[in-house]
Amino acid sequence: MAERWTPDSWRKKPIVQVPDYPDQAKLAEVEKRLSTFPPLVFAGEARSLKRTLGKVSAGEAFLLQGGDCAESFKEHHPDNIRDFFRVFLQMAVVLTFAAALPVVKVGRIAGQFAKPRTSPTEKQGGVELPSYRGDIINDNEFTEAARTPDPRRQIEAYRQSAATLNLLRAFAQGGYANLLSVQQWMLGFVKDSPQSRRYTEISNRISEALGFMQACGLDLERHPELRTTDFYTSHEALLLPYEQAMTRIDSTSGDWYCTSGHMLWIGDRTRQLDHAHVEFCRGIKNPLGLKCGPSSTPDGLLKLIDILNPENEAGRLTLICRMGADAVGDHLPTLIRAVQREGRKVVWSSDPMHGNTITAASGYKTRPFESILKEVKNFFQIHAAEGTYAGGVHLEMTGTNVTECTGGARAISDADLNDRYHTFCDPRLNAEQAIEMAFLLAELLKEERIANAKPFAAAAGL
Ligand code: PEP
Ligand code: CO
Repeated sequence: MAERWTPDSWRKKPIVQVPDYPDQAKLAEVEKRLSTFPPLVFAGEARSLKRTLGKVSAGEAFLLQGGDCAESFKEHHPDNIRDFFRVFLQMAVVLTFAAALPVVKVGRIAGQFAKPRTSPTEKQGGVELPSYRGDIINDNEFTEAARTPDPRRQIEAYRQSAATLNLLRAFAQGGYANLLSVQQWMLGFVKDSPQSRRYTEISNRISEALGFMQACGLDLERHPELRTTDFYTSHEALLLPYEQAMTRIDSTSGDWYCTSGHMLWIGDRTRQLDHAHVEFCRGIKNPLGLKCGPSSTPDGLLKLIDILNPENEAGRLTLICRMGADAVGDHLPTLIRAVQREGRKVVWSSDPMHGNTITAASGYKTRPFESILKEVKNFFQIHAAEGTYAGGVHLEMTGTNVTECTGGARAISDADLNDRYHTFCDPRLNAEQAIEMAFLLAELLKEERIANAKPFAAAAGL
């Protein structure tokens, strides 16, 4: 019999990755204030995301999740939000078109501020200070004042999340995402990129198909699914005082929802069975992600699934696998077999970023595009061999033209990293690399669809 869950029952459990707030009274005051602020998302939206993810777990849709490793206060600008959203839409179009499959769009955005760290402190030139833990906690600048955790930053993170979400909702619902504008998403974007020709080709074909439907008498303006899109938000549920403050009872269902984002995930460093992060997440009804790394064991994973999804609800749990391009073959098959044996409904998603980080000769933390692609390919191959469905990807990416990951069609080299290395945390795919990844993913998805197609569909060449 599980112990009773309350929004603060995590406080009685062991916890790792917590900031050391010197001013506890201030922290309590901030938590109290936050708990009176309006929710950022509505529980009904979290439920519809869960339903859609249920379709992914059944092989009927594909999950595209991505965004910054860490959002920052300094990079908070409408152009950055627009550029990210546009690239995300373009990726979704490429995937939807090639695989003829609905794509569930979930951003790592509007709340992705807190970061787990390998070491609690950082040394520079003989000086040791607390590590940077994300803008919701402290500042990246290497001074004692900047690195001291400040609870007031949670209020600023809330404000930024609300503003970001507001713009995203406007784009998604207000006309920017209209499929009739699919060609215009090219404007102001990497026009001379090696991917632009392929994208233009797809967008022309979509426009042609829409024109054909219109000519047949279909009134496209009357189809909201063409004019708007569903876009959801997600982040790591790491800073529990903030997440608790945003957790409310939904008046329509009587259930607890964390209203800081639609989907929350548990990181690879905080998924201990009896610890605070698992305790907090088990009680909220949002769809959850769980990072699975090389240290995840079949037995440990099943125990976590028991705690996080005891009712085996489709769409509740997404397993975000981040093993590393070479290690994925050693670890993933045994996890898949355990989950299959026990008949657990999950979404299998690949995070090909976090297991493939290296330090380049230049000293920059980077990720080679080839390793990222290799992990995704291995992920798809393993699922094909196990007879399961590779249901999604989880990417760190941005809509701008940064130079943080090496490789890709423009062959960004180690020497190029210094040009526009802007990330506050891990290296991200830039806009071109992200679109390129979408094209490569589309090919994998198409193969997966053909392999799983029913005889009729295969005969029809779908
Ligand atoms: C992340 O997603 O930014 C992250 C820290 O991942 P992980 O918990 O898998 O290391
Ligand atoms: Co990261």
